Amino acid sequence: MTVDDFRGEAARVIARHAEMEREAVDRMLTVPPKPDMGDFAFPCFTLAKKLRKAPPVIAKEIADKAVADLELLCGVQALGGYVNLSVDRTRFAEAVLHEAADAAYGCCEDGAGQTIAIDYSSPNIAKPFHVGHLRSTIIGGALVRIFEALGYEVIGINHVGDWGTQFGRQIAGLKRFGQPGDENDLMSLNRLYVKFHEVADSDPELVEEAREWFRRQETGDEEAVALWRRIRDTSLDYFKRIYDRLGVRFDSYTGESFFNDKMDTVIEEARAKGLATVSDGALIIDLSDEGIDTPALLEKADGTTLYLTRDVAAARHRHDTYGCDRIVYVVASGQSLHFRQLFTVLKLLGHAWSEDCVHVNFGLVQGMSTRKGNVIYLEELLDEARDRALAYMRGQIEKRLDLEDEETVAEAVGIAAIFFADLSKQRIKDYRFDWDLAISFEGDTGPYLMSAHARIAGILRNCGLEPDPDADLSPLVEPEAHRLVSLVARYPEVLREAARLYEPSVLANHLLELARGLHAGYTVLRVKGEEADKAQARLLLFTAVKQVLRSGLTILGIQPLERM
Ligand code: ARG
Repeated sequence: MTVDDFRGEAARVIARHAEMEREAVDRMLTVPPKPDMGDFAFPCFTLAKKLRKAPPVIAKEIADKAVADLELLCGVQALGGYVNLSVDRTRFAEAVLHEAADAAYGCCEDGAGQTIAIDYSSPNIAKPFHVGHLRSTIIGGALVRIFEALGYEVIGINHVGDWGTQFGRQIAGLKRFGQPGDENDLMSLNRLYVKFHEVADSDPELVEEAREWFRRQETGDEEAVALWRRIRDTSLDYFKRIYDRLGVRFDSYTGESFFNDKMDTVIEEARAKGLATVSDGALIIDLSDEGIDTPALLEKADGTTLYLTRDVAAARHRHDTYGCDRIVYVVASGQSLHFRQLFTVLKLLGHAWSEDCVHVNFGLVQGMSTRKGNVIYLEELLDEARDRALAYMRGQIEKRLDLEDEETVAEAVGIAAIFFADLSKQRIKDYRFDWDLAISFEGDTGPYLMSAHARIAGILRNCGLEPDPDADLSPLVEPEAHRLVSLVARYPEVLREAARLYEPSVLANHLLELARGLHAGYTVLRVKGEEADKAQARLLLFTAVKQVLRSGLTILGIQPLERM
């Protein structure tokens, strides 16, 4: 008996008595808003239209017939326009907790044999890192781990913006105001870049120098290329340090510069297919027949090729190199037009797989800058998160005395605060980041989830019992226990849903429900000092809840610590 059998029976029983296809019923089954209303709900509103009867009448008819037809389920009742079905709680708990005992609970093989490339983070070198790049890093990292859990082969790609006129400005600043060695230090590079812009306003000569440096870089001048490479390496080293801290990884850092010599093919093909036209000296593809008013710009009048052309070359490169079935771009909503253009150009070039390219867009964040505007210094941000977490934890002294490595915990808490503030919101929504709300151990926060996990770890550690995997679960009669069992049961479905919608918030909010369920359950579901059978049943329940929290938090990029 597995968890799916219960849902399967609900679908079968409804299908039989509503005279519908079982798959159709399965798709329509939902969860009632309150646990005491049952475990599955079937809405009768579409049937009502067809049968020309009121939904409550239909619900009652189905429920009356279904009642004699139950095996794993133990109750069926009409409630408003819904048929609600309830599981046999003990048998349900047996199935759920048995499955959830596996460390890989929630993982599956849905994606076996399929490869997904996820393009995320993708900052620009020699330009400021924006909050948008951080969101992309957080959301993209979570998607990587979600798809991996579902059995996909995932290629993480950092499409770094490592080519462009900004390098001319960076080098000009370096040459004019820098010291030897500054090219090896990101903070100096940032400072010189800022300085360049301060002076450039009133110094046309400096602007001209910048132009000249980029021209030299583009024509392969040795010194310019060597400096560009140094600056690129310095930046990537810095980013890799930060990525380590954030727990994200990339299989490839092939960014824009890699495609410099791969754009001609794109342009030739576009010409050969008769797609490219010249407009005001620039080479464009008119997309108006495809419902896009802004033409795609392949080549500017001065011969410099563009972001879009590189992206066309990059998509093809990914497709050829990795044989990917899907390419996912985790990039801010501001670039929606760019990706519509990109996918359309790929289609017009004859790539049927353009259908499997997805722009996973997201909204803006306010309130996260540590300097002016939306520009952030990542290292500063993470340090600030750690220090604030430490201060918060020290404010709660009595609980924290036994903590061995406060700083490590604070680092993890700081990151959890930033990640969860982001991942708990629907990605398309803009949100305002607030340090105090994000760091708090109470409320809808990452630290709250971490402490729920650590608290169960504590219960299991201190209960003085060896868990018995075959414990009798009939003592789990409390609604609080059933609520937790149901939430554990839904975990595999939640992961699938998060992947289907490219929406880590589905997972984040499910974990929040679980932590809230725990909170409501602690005092009712005591382990220590209880009769053996009760204690053992609850122990298994807590072990399963811990397992789901551990798995889910790890997928979100949050460390599930044993103590904090
Ligand atoms: N570097 C770009 C930016 O900061 C984002 C790149 C996203 N990926 C891509 N393949 N276009 O705007």
